[in-house]
Amino acid sequence: THCILLGAPIDEGQRRPGCLMGPAAYRVAGLAQTLTALNHSVEDRGDVIPGPARPVACTNPAVHHLPEVIAWTDALRTAVAEALDDGLPIIMGGDHALALGTVAGAAVHAERAGRPLFVLWLDAHSDIHTVRTTTSGNLHGTPIAYALGLPGFDPCPPFPHPVPGANICMFGIRSVDPAEHAALLAIDITVNDMRVLDEHGIVAPLRAFLDRVEAENGMLHVSLDVDFLDPSIAPAVGTTVPGGATFREAHLVMELLHESGLVTSLDLVELNPFLDDRGRTAKLMVDLVGSLMGRKVFDRPTRSF
Ligand code: ARG
Ligand code: MN
Ligand code: MN
Repeated sequence: THCILLGAPIDEGQRRPGCLMGPAAYRVAGLAQTLTALNHSVEDRGDVIPGPARPVACTNPAVHHLPEVIAWTDALRTAVAEALDDGLPIIMGGDHALALGTVAGAAVHAERAGRPLFVLWLDAHSDIHTVRTTTSGNLHGTPIAYALGLPGFDPCPPFPHPVPGANICMFGIRSVDPAEHAALLAIDITVNDMRVLDEHGIVAPLRAFLDRVEAENGMLHVSLDVDFLDPSIAPAVGTTVPGGATFREAHLVMELLHESGLVTSLDLVELNPFLDDRGRTAKLMVDLVGSLMGRKVFDRPTRSF
């Protein structure tokens, strides 16, 4: 696979500084080397540069940095749509507001390719606020609502080709605000919260989703939020929520994604290297990408139990 690294040092989707160091941390942690070692070609296109932030009117006074986030969204939509022509874009964030642009870019490309777009959201949070409903004003909590084409994004450019809720699958969810709860109940969307994973494990629900992607010849955008992982293994994130995915669960998700061969683009979001413990979260994220891109203990079938 030709892997295209895109840095997205966006920090404006939330209030704790540090995510802008994410792309540098992934480079230091050896993301490119990890991919090369798995026999992939790697092209680091450097960091995406947003255009100028133009003032906009917004009716929700809590919302902050909307002009900056709109500028990022425009730049990332174009960068991701173009990168998809040439290979598999891996977007090194940056906070989750970058997904407003990356999912839009994937949607633009999918439309051109005449294929449906599916989204796998690996996150503690459902990120389904609109610009109107967010009470924190942190726009990293909004990309799912944007991708669905929900109303309430007034000053933002409309999402290009909205993704149907039925094409979106969430895993790891354990923090949902009241307005988000109402939004989730109002649409057809798969929410595999931690309760589902406790009861069924991760394999059956993930295979069910991947089977649908394959049956429809879909493109698959994966958005991996660091807080999907349990804070005990991934401390470098501003929005830790206890009870997240374990080391093995996370690797298993990635291994199943690799076996499916369906992933067409990937976000790595919310890493805040300033909060890390000797780079362990950055290294874990790079190792998870390794599993997603084919690293395994045995590379040929062996006898198991
Ligand atoms: N729902 C909360 C909010 O709107 C938290 C969002 C966290 N999102 C994230 N991408 N980490 O502020
Ligand atoms: Mn998120
Ligand atoms: Mn999150």
